[in-house]
Amino acid sequence: MRDYANLLFEVASGVGIITINRPKALNALNYDTLQELNELFDQLAEDQTVKTVIITGGGEKSFVAGADITAMLPMSAVEGRKWAKFAQAVFNKIENFPRPVIAAINGFALGGGCELAMACDIRIASEKAKFGQPEVSLGIPPGFGGTQRLPRLVGKGRAKELLFTGDMIDAAEAYRIGLANQVTAPEDLLNAAKTMAQKIMTRGPVAVELCKAAVNEGLDVDLESGVAFEAEVFGLCFATADQKEGMAAFVEKRKAVFTGK
Ligand code: CAA
Repeated sequence: MRDYANLLFEVASGVGIITINRPKALNALNYDTLQELNELFDQLAEDQTVKTVIITGGGEKSFVAGADITAMLPMSAVEGRKWAKFAQAVFNKIENFPRPVIAAINGFALGGGCELAMACDIRIASEKAKFGQPEVSLGIPPGFGGTQRLPRLVGKGRAKELLFTGDMIDAAEAYRIGLANQVTAPEDLLNAAKTMAQKIMTRGPVAVELCKAAVNEGLDVDLESGVAFEAEVFGLCFATADQKEGMAAFVEKRKAVFTGK
């Protein structure tokens, strides 16, 4: 893995931890940072030793305070569209990454930061986290998936309120409306994310991967197509050693040891 200018990356016990690290700009996403995230996820897709990924923000204050406003100020319409398409492709890659991705939200998750968190599978928030889509205050709508993922997570009405007002909400409110899965004390945040990652890693890896694929696929199609896809992945699992092991372990009253095969 190469050194990145705007990211830190470490692996501990099968969990890859990505820290978006531009604390002077509250980890705002510029082109280079997005490009680095894109490259890192391409590499992780090939690296089977990393079983889950956590994304967090460097410094005390911020997860990611949005797309880099200084970089966007002079953009033309054509450049703005290209910028949104590029970031959307990176976030789609994260959303469809075959293993779980957990956002550990340590502070501001605004604009592109909230959108990055929503592209992750699970969001764990520090009590200090603040969420919002403040783009309308800048004269733009969200461009990195916010108008699509926010209503899917919290419902149309709440999403529209957040999108139209640009208001920030705290971690407790994010939890209440289903934007955050869990809220922790700031000092416990990374451990809570690691604990969640480790728990998931004791389950059947192929089953987890296919759960992710079925949820992602199913939310984009009608219910009948979604459950049809579920039947296919359900059947597929009966061709895995993990299914035999998981069920044998239950019958033999012991803990399953999965191999991901
Ligand atoms: N882009 C570029 N720089 C940013 C930034 C951003 N999104 N957010 C913060 N910064 C920079 C500030 O300019 C400041 O830099 P200087 O020290 O060089 O002046 C530094 O980070 C610290 O920020 P503040 O002094 O503003 O810190 P604060 O504690 O007073 O306020 C804040 C924190 C409320 C998060 C405030 O920084 C803020 O409102 N930031 C912008 C949030 C925002 O509007 N995000 C959405 C961006 S648009 C977007 O993301 C579009 C999309 O859908 C993709």
